[in-house]
Amino acid sequence: MADPEAERVPVPLVEPINLFDFELLAEQQMAHNEFDYVAGGATDELTLRRTRSAYEHLALRPRVLAGNAAADLSTTVLGQRIEVPFMLAPSGGHKRAHPDAELATARAAAHMGTVMGLTANSSVPIEDVAAETDGPKWFQTYFYRDRELTLEMVKRAEQAGFKAIILTLDAHWPSKRERNIRNKYKRGARANYTPAQEAQAAANSKSMFDSGQSSRGLNDPAASWADIEWLKTATDLPIVCKGIMTGEDASLCAENGVDGLIVSNHGARNLDTTLSTIEVLPEVAAAAGERVEVYLDGGIRRGTDVVKAIALGAKGVFFGRPIFWGLSYGGSDGLIKLMEILRDEVESTMMLTGRGSIEAIDASLVTPMPALA
Ligand SMILES: Cc1cc2nc3c(=O)[nH]c(=O)nc-3n(C[C@H](O)[C@H](O)[C@H](O)COP(=O)(O)O)c2cc1C
Repeated sequence: MADPEAERVPVPLVEPINLFDFELLAEQQMAHNEFDYVAGGATDELTLRRTRSAYEHLALRPRVLAGNAAADLSTTVLGQRIEVPFMLAPSGGHKRAHPDAELATARAAAHMGTVMGLTANSSVPIEDVAAETDGPKWFQTYFYRDRELTLEMVKRAEQAGFKAIILTLDAHWPSKRERNIRNKYKRGARANYTPAQEAQAAANSKSMFDSGQSSRGLNDPAASWADIEWLKTATDLPIVCKGIMTGEDASLCAENGVDGLIVSNHGARNLDTTLSTIEVLPEVAAAAGERVEVYLDGGIRRGTDVVKAIALGAKGVFFGRPIFWGLSYGGSDGLIKLMEILRDEVESTMMLTGRGSIEAIDASLVTPMPALA
């Protein structure tokens, strides 16, 4: 008979060598409901799986004798040089992964020479994250029902030295995340809202979908493109629209004079059964043209994923969930280790495909992966 004590021996922590290892370790390390909150997607998680697996349906076409002694991974986003072509996606409440929370994330981003996206839903106040490092940071917020709150958040970010405003446009209604419903999940405290605003958010979040898990109660479901026009009069910072999944909306971004857009399905956390982001990237990039810088997020876990997204029209990519895995492994150092692994994979992919610079990565590098006969 099996010794019942023996079953309780924890699985030994191994040295992670790729991002999936970090995920496994985070699952052992983090509270179960917090891990589920990070990992989960909407309803059947069909889009969650597809957003990841779609990269496997793209093949690389490597070139040889390209004459590169090394690869230069640096690029520019909104005119800002970054050392690696990946950035940290705005994602709520890093305290759920490590007590240093967004301060650790800011240090890791600055160390890697890349952009940190900070959400209004952070565990640490905007000003404290800004003061932690000199690294480039973009601030993410929403069209709240109360436009004065949108304005206040934008002004705080401006004063704190953020370099761009990311407007998230795909979170204007509660989404059905069944892991959270089953876990009776309650979100931890957020730092940038007053108790009255939190109470208002809760009062507006009547649906079962939204019980204790979301900030959606403050967001305005009736916002429209006219609000972009209004925001442009209120700030001189560049505006990046997040949550674009069609050529039609990419054209509207361009027509409305935004500076950048992020092809994103919110990590498949909001609307299920959409396409994956890498699938819609060519359509969005074609519609955006030269007028708007295009970035992508969703399922970026390998260096090859980063290179494929750049080949199909992204100027850079963001990742979300791996931030929590890196933080849970070892705070700022853990997240740096994770990003060093991703950076080395990008470098290896570039060298082995004969691409010495980000500019040299073009559409001829990828082709649909044919099904095996
Ligand atoms: C735990 C968690 C919290 C998030 N919070 C926000 C948020 O506050 N604002 C936002 O625009 N996106 C948020 N996102 C979405 C990310 O910005 C990004 O779109 C997504 O994580 C990318 O997919 P990936 O996790 O597969 O890399 C969040 C994602 C996660 C996993």
